[in-house]
Amino acid sequence: GLPPACDFTVFGGTGDLALRKLLPALYLRDREGQLPADTRIVGVSRSDHDQAAYREEVRAALLEHVDADRLDDAALDRMLARLHHVTLDVNGSEGWHELHGLLKDRARHEDTVRVFYLAVAPGLFGSICRRLDEIGAADANARVVVEKPVGHDLASAQAVNDAVGEVFEESQIFRIDHYLGKESVQNLLVTRFANTFLEPLWNSHWVDHVQITVAESLGVGDRGGYYDHAGALRDMVQNHLLQLLCLVAMEPPTYVGGETVRDEKLKVLQALKPMTPADVDRDTVRGRYDAGLVGGAAVASYADDLGHDQSDTETFVALKAEVHNWRWAGVPFYLRTGKRLDRRTSEIVVVFKEPPHAMFPHSEGGSTPNRLHIQVQPDEGMRLHLTAKEPGPGGIRLRPVSLDLSYATAFAQASPDAYERLLMDVIKGNPTLFMRRDEVEAAWAWVEPILTRWAASPDRPRRYPAGTTGPIAAATLLERDGRTWQESDS
Ligand code: BG6
Repeated sequence: GLPPACDFTVFGGTGDLALRKLLPALYLRDREGQLPADTRIVGVSRSDHDQAAYREEVRAALLEHVDADRLDDAALDRMLARLHHVTLDVNGSEGWHELHGLLKDRARHEDTVRVFYLAVAPGLFGSICRRLDEIGAADANARVVVEKPVGHDLASAQAVNDAVGEVFEESQIFRIDHYLGKESVQNLLVTRFANTFLEPLWNSHWVDHVQITVAESLGVGDRGGYYDHAGALRDMVQNHLLQLLCLVAMEPPTYVGGETVRDEKLKVLQALKPMTPADVDRDTVRGRYDAGLVGGAAVASYADDLGHDQSDTETFVALKAEVHNWRWAGVPFYLRTGKRLDRRTSEIVVVFKEPPHAMFPHSEGGSTPNRLHIQVQPDEGMRLHLTAKEPGPGGIRLRPVSLDLSYATAFAQASPDAYERLLMDVIKGNPTLFMRRDEVEAAWAWVEPILTRWAASPDRPRRYPAGTTGPIAAATLLERDGRTWQESDS
């Protein structure tokens, strides 16, 4: 349930994430009357804003990032009145005293929930937590939220987790993977487990393979400094794509809540077949975008976006994974993600096997295997591809048709942003949609041999023109197995 009061502190309070995502999400929940009545929002940053200046900066950000039809003066005023700003240099000594004074405010409820959102570089997580502990702010009512990347390999992830874990209990640590906050991602669990017809088919007897695509049309923009040290495998696969894979592959938990979902996801990560160097050479493809056309507009190459050509960082990954357990043995999971592709789309396609017996031998057209296509974004929905008889008096002619479900049509309401859901879960103390330490580390453990082999291999990422579906080798990865990527139509 909702606590009586909340102090929501954002380190990096004037940063991009805070202004573009966190504060708009808090505003929208506040507008719906869902924040605890007594909620304060404290932006912490190095800028020497006073409260009025911070309120102005946040007002401008809300006007820019919230849809116009959800902006209203009463809600804006209420939100802005909640805001405080503390000038603080995380590694310095100034400002902590002021933060301490603000949070200790005696008139507040004893059971005020204190959220500390660390929207800063992960190298700072440990020292911030220690300082919070020193000022007495890290007690049982406190929760800490961290963003990815949690580390850049297994050892560094463990170090970050250790540093945060020295101060906070695991139950107080909320590691965000914002894909888990997306409506359509949560719906994956409902689709699988609140319906009877899918689950009996959801295994190696009936499923031929699974495809997971997270394509972006944007390039690295001005995030090159971070991105060039990460690359697509660390930035997207280690977290978002593996989380999607887990939700597709996991066993049904007894109920959804508490630790049950995370327990099941962990089992999937642990069942991923570890890649040997030969597997990496055979089953992974790295790419990097050249200049090209996206949506008719000319865009620059990765090297030009970065400002130099010294980098071997991949902006595209395709790979074949296997979940070695009873349900999935022998079923490939093909994953791909990249920047500057032809469009922005995130989708999961479950491709079923051909019927056991072809009983329309003289038909024209031929059948295509059933596919369940889950559109995560944009235009959330689901499409089930079937084979039907084309109407007509002549012979039997088989035609692919589809059953379409569009969320926008079915529910006539827009999906909330992922952060709206996730921030409320933090305030309520519900950990289900956050990554537990063991999950993050299991994901790194699986990804690491790929990173190691890539670093040692003489091969470089393959070039692909911006505005395409990636390097040709990504198509070959499936063709070699007699399969093709299912591109959604449009
Ligand atoms: C972030 C990555 O985690 O996810 C970005 O760091 C990426 O590189 C983004 O652009 C994609 O998120 P979404 O919600 O736009 O699909």
